[in-house]
Amino acid sequence: MVKNFSAPIAAAMQKYSADGVLPFHTPGHKQGRGAHELLRKLLTAEGFKQEVSLMEELDDLHEPHSCIKAAQRLAARLWHADECIFFVNGTTSAIQAMIFGTLKAGDLILIPRNAHRSVISGLILSGTTPIFLPVEFDAEFNLPLNVSVETIERAIKKFPQAQAVLLVSPNYYGVAADLEKISELVHAAGMILLIDEAHGAHLQFCAELPKSAMDAGADLAAQSTHKLLGALTQSSMLMFRKNFSERVKVAASLLQTTSPNQLLLASLDIARLQMETDGRELVSRAVELSKKLRADLKRIDSLKVFDAENLDVTKVTVNVQNLGLTGAEAEEILRRELKIQCELSDAANLLFLITYADDEETISKLVDALKLLPNHHKKISLPSLTSKEILKAELSPRETFYLPREVVALKKSIGRICAEEITFYPPGIPLLMPGEKISAQVVEMIQQSRGRVIGASDKTLSTIKVVAF
Ligand SMILES: Cc1ncc(COP(=O)(O)O)c(C=O)c1O
Repeated sequence: MVKNFSAPIAAAMQKYSADGVLPFHTPGHKQGRGAHELLRKLLTAEGFKQEVSLMEELDDLHEPHSCIKAAQRLAARLWHADECIFFVNGTTSAIQAMIFGTLKAGDLILIPRNAHRSVISGLILSGTTPIFLPVEFDAEFNLPLNVSVETIERAIKKFPQAQAVLLVSPNYYGVAADLEKISELVHAAGMILLIDEAHGAHLQFCAELPKSAMDAGADLAAQSTHKLLGALTQSSMLMFRKNFSERVKVAASLLQTTSPNQLLLASLDIARLQMETDGRELVSRAVELSKKLRADLKRIDSLKVFDAENLDVTKVTVNVQNLGLTGAEAEEILRRELKIQCELSDAANLLFLITYADDEETISKLVDALKLLPNHHKKISLPSLTSKEILKAELSPRETFYLPREVVALKKSIGRICAEEITFYPPGIPLLMPGEKISAQVVEMIQQSRGRVIGASDKTLSTIKVVAF
């Protein structure tokens, strides 16, 4: 593939700013002139000049025909898709568009038990009913692996009438599903394969990482360009095959703002340029640094480093249980005393992301900090998260959304249909989704979980909203 060294959106913005036009248009700060000094500290003068939108030469995200069209085409080519749409409301809206643009009310979709909450909003928008797939589980590290090929086989046999399978691959901890085999099974059953690849925009650039979704045969893949590559936060892409083009484009347009921030769009264009020119070298370096970090950490007594088949090694999960610390306690010590912030902590682990922005120095600082974690000599008990059941939701999230609800004590909610979403953040994985029957196991998991809870009307979680019938 001949490399493309241009960034069409960034170039159009520079041209507009260099033209010296006197603006009588939005945004009201008028290229920074009216901006408060605190806001001016956030952007360079040139950044303000280019923070304009809706000009003819800057194209239209909703009907791209010039620089946005060219930038999206270049991205599709680099990530081996037929087409690509840029998103300025994160992978959340890319996932919503992926579901809303391919499925309809009454359709069935197989999704992992631990899909991200953005999937629920996609299900509410589309009216699709989920069938929950169990996720394999690593008992030693107490964390979710991915959905196995065998589970997909069982699920397709049990629900041959389903229209689609949606998987999160790789998951937050970097564990990818065997997408090549799964794609064959899914397509042979006449279903489509949607991938939440929020944590996988970099996979394309190093053969040592799991295969990217589009290369493995997915029909659509939503990627957070901002999470592990160089786009600004909120900037994501949706990759897809051209037979989905028409409806997916309409869905994306319905879900996106009519005033997309030009800086976010340019950051997607520039992140693509950076990967196109130096992606292989940069991502391979991140992989090498991660391998070194893993080797160094394995030499520290009391710490364990997570390893698995089909793992993105740049996600480094460190188990601190043998220090008598929970993940949250270790996170707090690292943050307050050692000025290190991890991506997330759970009951027993800390997750560190190594990206192309890291170097020998950041890695050795992390190793030094982890060596300083104290030993609290206490026993850490871990919640169990395993279930092998493939379960269809009692009601679709959309039906549930419109039904009357009542509040009951969490302990008394077993057997009722949940009317809200219970998600702990991070990792943003729902323990309960609207429309799902509440089991004794999930009540126990909620009672044992820690972290910021979102979705729940009662943040203490002593009560829960259920469907009132
Ligand atoms: C697996 C997964 N999917 C989707 C998302 C949503 O991405 P965004 O925050 O870009 O909207 C996240 C965010 O954490 C995620 O972890």
